[in-house]
Amino acid sequence: MQTDPALKDFADQVREQIARTADTRALEALRVQLFGRRGKLTEWLKQLGKLPPQARRERGETLNHLRDELTAALQTRATALAQAELERRLAAERLDVTLPGRGESTGSLHPVSRTIRRIERLFGAMGFAAVAGPEIEDDWHNFEALNIPAWHPARAMQDTFYVLDGRRLLRTHTSPVQVRTMQRQAPPIRIICPGRVYRRDFDRTHSPMFHQVEGLYVAEDVSLADLKYDLQRFLSLFFEREVEAMFRPSYFPFVEPGADVHIRWGERWLEVLGCGVVHPNVLQAVGIDPQRYSGYAFGMGVERLAMLRYGVDDLRRFFDNDLRFLEQFV
Ligand code: FA5
Ligand code: MG
Repeated sequence: MQTDPALKDFADQVREQIARTADTRALEALRVQLFGRRGKLTEWLKQLGKLPPQARRERGETLNHLRDELTAALQTRATALAQAELERRLAAERLDVTLPGRGESTGSLHPVSRTIRRIERLFGAMGFAAVAGPEIEDDWHNFEALNIPAWHPARAMQDTFYVLDGRRLLRTHTSPVQVRTMQRQAPPIRIICPGRVYRRDFDRTHSPMFHQVEGLYVAEDVSLADLKYDLQRFLSLFFEREVEAMFRPSYFPFVEPGADVHIRWGERWLEVLGCGVVHPNVLQAVGIDPQRYSGYAFGMGVERLAMLRYGVDDLRRFFDNDLRFLEQFV
């Protein structure tokens, strides 16, 4: 077949262009240039009709041949480019699953919260319901109703933070919650009240904000023996062993008799709670007949119990927010 040199040049040029095309879009543009409605080859094929029959057949054959060849070349290049593009994309979007994680760490409950939950669970099993009360109290609930009138020297037992208006204060113990509960509810009453309390205190076993769990049991015939039995039982369950607990007579205006409970702490004894038989004046103040009902009450220091359970020798560690300390309680 005799090939027109111009056509041959053209074909060489196109082959080179195809080989040089860098991406599928440029390749598509080239295809349109050749085979589109105004494409070069389209144009030539259209002009075949103007040639005499013999020349038309020869040129037609050449052009068809060239069209098939270039179409195939375009196709091959398109496949190669698409493959290369895919590989580039896979390389760019590669996810390295062997990279170490970002080190998310799980938090844990604060040892004081854990201790409160433990106390609630143990007393819950003994029939005590947990109730809450306000941290900002009035004088009546924190002192007066608890048999501590304004002139009473026992007010000095708890160094109080007063709110600026002078009428309200930060509760110094959870005992006002027993007052609030007895005002609302008739006996039998069996509650515990966990919560924050505040005092001007600061050393290894005292902090200005700490937690107490108040307990109150009011019914007919509640005695000191019930109190001792229930507290002993609680302490053994709490520490998971028979603890050496010392009941020492003590004074609180709202109980009679009253006691402090101390637990062995190394060489010393650590006071963990105060307790006693509810004073008739307290029952009277909230409208419960002291002739018919009696009760016991206690108030325990949560941080003190946590110190003993976890072997912490300075109560203030609980409030330093040092993760190295807190992370040990998981
Ligand atoms: C009271 O607060 C009485 N309301 C307890 C009570 C309730 C007695 C019902 C009788 C009937 P006391 O001030 O002793 O008592 O405190 C009770 C416990 O709180 C203490 O035994 C101690 O464990 C803890 N505690 C007292 N002050 C602090 C403090 N500053 N920091 C940490 N714990 C304290
Ligand atoms: Mg005390």
